[in-house]
Amino acid sequence: MWSFLNVEKEPVRILVTGQIGYAIVPMIARGAMLGPDQPVILHMLDIEPAAEALKGVKMELIDAAFPLLKGVVATTDVVEACRDVNIAVMIGGFPRKEGMERKDMMSKNVSIYKAQASALENHAAPDCKVLVVANPANTNALILKEFAPSIRKKNITCLTRLDHNRALGQISERLAVHVGDVKNAIIWGNHSSTQYPDVNHATVVTSGKEKPVRELVADDQWLKNEFIATVQQRGAAIIKARKLSSALSAASSACDHIHDWVLGTLKGTWVSMGVYSDGSYGVPPGIVYSFPVTCEKGEWSIVQGLKIDEFSRAKMDATAQELIEEKLLAYSCLN
Ligand code: LMR
Repeated sequence: MWSFLNVEKEPVRILVTGQIGYAIVPMIARGAMLGPDQPVILHMLDIEPAAEALKGVKMELIDAAFPLLKGVVATTDVVEACRDVNIAVMIGGFPRKEGMERKDMMSKNVSIYKAQASALENHAAPDCKVLVVANPANTNALILKEFAPSIRKKNITCLTRLDHNRALGQISERLAVHVGDVKNAIIWGNHSSTQYPDVNHATVVTSGKEKPVRELVADDQWLKNEFIATVQQRGAAIIKARKLSSALSAASSACDHIHDWVLGTLKGTWVSMGVYSDGSYGVPPGIVYSFPVTCEKGEWSIVQGLKIDEFSRAKMDATAQELIEEKLLAYSCLN
């Protein structure tokens, strides 16, 4: 009786490229990305030298016996990896190595993203949603769109939810409140040290009442200096401490990004996503810029009408300027 209530959903195919895939795949297989009732098929793509390690990850996924995991494709073939995927989480990229110029890194990433974009364009499921995590994330997303012209602009995004969550975490530490009670921080701009973490509209629920962060953190200098610098430099601080890039927080934030994009943001709450600028808030169109967004029925919309003061304006423009320069550099690598 009532068996129709238990009809299983069709599995969603999720592509994960690159090394922190090891951190994110168990989260996806446990339902952290699409919910506890959504079966998934994982597609993992890595480079040839990592082929043996990738086999090991597949073995571990089998051994973990995840009830939601309906299949695993582990491959070094980009076409096989992209076939029929509904969601693509692009973590793989060429990291900057010591002594390497930014342009050299950009040129390596431009060619990686060009190849992966073409495979997604030709083989992914229609309406595939793409999240770029690998740095320079905003500009890699732009290049991906350039070589996947049939994927809608609205379906290509980059990760700034990690920075957004870092901002919530810093406020929660400062005020000794639970991070779940802090909301509506904003990350504007680039996922780089020019990003602008903005708490002018953020609130905290305390003793059952919602109060502005600016009222609770009376120290304006801390908000203007230390808070912003800590969030901007957090990725570098983690690399210094771990001798490795962030992995668990990046993986968890990537799950949050896709979760909210697909399943919707909570009423009265926004999140930060790197999306194509449509000119909102005077940000030049034609770059992928982090904005506050709400999501409903699988679509994001930029939150409109927020008041921007002079301090914020200057920071928002500076990070936009960096993105314009990155775009020029990336396009010069294409020629
Ligand atoms: C992060 O924000 O943790 C990373 O983007 C840092 C990095 O350069 O890998």
